[in-house]
Amino acid sequence: MNSSTNQVYPVIWHNNSVSLIDQTRLPNEYAFVEIHRCSDMAQAIKTMIVRGAPAIGVAAAYGMYLGAREIETSDRNQFLNQLDKVAQLLRTTRPTAVNLFWAISRMLKTAYETFGTVEDIKQTLLNTARSINAEDLQTCYAIGDNGLKVLPQTPEKLTILTHCNAGALATAGYGTALGVVRSVFREGRLARVFADETRPRLQGAKLTAWECVQEGIPVTLITDSMAAHCMKEGLIDIVVVGADRIAANGDTANKIGTYSLALVAKAHNIPFYVAAPLSTVDFSLSHGNEIPIEERNPEEIYQIGDTIITPTGAEFYNPAFDVTPAQLITGIITENGVFAPGELTKSRIKQFA
Ligand code: MRU
Repeated sequence: MNSSTNQVYPVIWHNNSVSLIDQTRLPNEYAFVEIHRCSDMAQAIKTMIVRGAPAIGVAAAYGMYLGAREIETSDRNQFLNQLDKVAQLLRTTRPTAVNLFWAISRMLKTAYETFGTVEDIKQTLLNTARSINAEDLQTCYAIGDNGLKVLPQTPEKLTILTHCNAGALATAGYGTALGVVRSVFREGRLARVFADETRPRLQGAKLTAWECVQEGIPVTLITDSMAAHCMKEGLIDIVVVGADRIAANGDTANKIGTYSLALVAKAHNIPFYVAAPLSTVDFSLSHGNEIPIEERNPEEIYQIGDTIITPTGAEFYNPAFDVTPAQLITGIITENGVFAPGELTKSRIKQFA
């Protein structure tokens, strides 16, 4: 965290290695893990030391550079061959967030298109990883400000409900859904954020609440099952969530529980927005049912801390994401503007090829 501004940067290039905020230890401990090798970066992504789609993309980009740095040959073809293996290792870390695959492809493309020595390619890869990091931060600022355009027109301050953590910790900094919250707060239009705790890993309770408290953003934490009741009570003006992968038709994969939130928002006539960078849109998939959904260890359900909370003999199902159909989404807030889910192709003008 930058102590003068309270800004949170989860992935930092520093002293020839990558510093990651260890998100598994927040909010009790604010600690960094130093990553020097590609295999350690892969492990950090798998174990969610770094998590959140855009942050995973940035981490993977640096992972590609770290892997490139470990390759010892000076022969270009051998180097590119081994770099493909580095890419393959990083691709196996988490399946749903498309930013991972997007960043790896961009790094590989850079390597293949850079001429000169292997050392030149390595330097270009580092520059590209740093660009991906810097661009994501600018993208988040733009998303936050574009979010201001969709606010309900009322003189009252607004209450925004969000799910999981789509904040600075989940991006290069500032956040997507929480970026919108930050921009609304900065404009003096935020009454408070309602944050779902987000079972089973509690990213809302642990991370979103932490980010809000750091910045003095009023935050009320609720359990996931309370969202419908809060909407019925008239406590929520607008829902804004992040995304892990958006299909071309606007169907959106995000943290498990997002789909039910969209259904109850619809039932209460509350606008439901997805805030995400265009690197989260996967135009190769026409529908959300093609998005791979990660299934994680059932331990995340049956154990809290060191305590097993369920009876022996129960079985478990632990999908980490769900897909919200496009028709439940009011709009998708991107760095290029706000799009109806069915009009996402119009957003491609400035997109990385
Ligand atoms: O499993 P996680 O914590 O990586 O899931 C994170 C989310 O689902 C976020 O909402 C999404 O990645 C958007 S982050 C800007």
